[in-house]
Amino acid sequence: MKKKFDICVVGATGAVGEAILSILDERNFPIDNLYPLASANSAGKKVLCQGKQWAVQDLAKFDFSKAQVGLFSAGGSISAKYALIAAEAGCVVIDNTAHFRRDVDIPLIVPEVNPHAIAKYTQRNIIANPNCSTIQMLVALKPIYDAVGINRINVATYQAVSGSGKEAINELTSQTMNLLNGRDIDIEVYPKQIAFNVIPHIDVFQDNGYTKEEMKMVWETQKIFEDEAILVNPSAVRVPVIYGHSEAINVETKTKITAVEATQLLAKAPGIKVIDKREDGGYATPFVEATNHDETFVSRIREDISCEKGLNLWVVSDNIRKGAALNTIQIAEILIEKYL
Ligand code: A2P
Repeated sequence: MKKKFDICVVGATGAVGEAILSILDERNFPIDNLYPLASANSAGKKVLCQGKQWAVQDLAKFDFSKAQVGLFSAGGSISAKYALIAAEAGCVVIDNTAHFRRDVDIPLIVPEVNPHAIAKYTQRNIIANPNCSTIQMLVALKPIYDAVGINRINVATYQAVSGSGKEAINELTSQTMNLLNGRDIDIEVYPKQIAFNVIPHIDVFQDNGYTKEEMKMVWETQKIFEDEAILVNPSAVRVPVIYGHSEAINVETKTKITAVEATQLLAKAPGIKVIDKREDGGYATPFVEATNHDETFVSRIREDISCEKGLNLWVVSDNIRKGAALNTIQIAEILIEKYL
């Protein structure tokens, strides 16, 4: 009989936590006991997974020695404290926050890109899940990187509000409704109105003028590709979309690749779906194609008219699924299959 595992989900009532529960269900993850964990306010609520109801428990009171794997999505400060407690108790943590991503002894994993690095989880009993924007960008660039090398990546993101959690989804929908009804709006989650607007600022500003979200894409790309020399120039932008991040990516490759060659490579790569007809609507969009789908969609593949070895791509993915919950569960699947 297939071995089953005791799993805890930290932040089980949040936007990512709920997606984790539904994907564990969908993929028939081999669960023996499931421990959904959240704040004391949510304790006692019931969640449904694999045909059973499971009671949410207070994270602060949980005994992590009961779980073999912990899927964490309750924010960086929660992971800073509880991932260490869990790891110490023998529960292997897969952490969705930025807290451990840059630690040299913690693997940072995109299963389509660097699954081999999961083996290093034994150093701290913690594996980090990358930033949502990094994940979809690297899924799309891996086949090109392997085939012709990449010197430099220029990327502008168009990021959905669900990446900031449930409160941000509420902020976009309530601002939109209030504005359409001629009422005043509240601005709480973002520094400016998000409805009918775009905000060129995600996470805190750094000394070099980039934001932390942008620098995450630099640091994480270098770590995951194990390539300190790869150059990344990101601009991260929040847009009034609920689910699905989009990215306009331009790469300068080491040797020339044509759009036709790139399309062929991408079409057979794992986790990618190419939608690229040069006609009205012949491309992927976050709401229509990506939301609730597992794949990273690649469109608008074209050679850069301004640069000999330049290539342009439009890359779209469900930020809550591949950008967070699904990537976490794919890591967990490899972990239990190969290492536990
Ligand atoms: P709760 O719903 O009980 O507040 P989102 O990213 O969608 O905002 O969700 C955040 C998740 O993290 C929720 O499940 C939330 O639980 C959980 N969380 C936030 N703060 C804490 C805390 N102090 N202790 C435990 N869980 C927390």
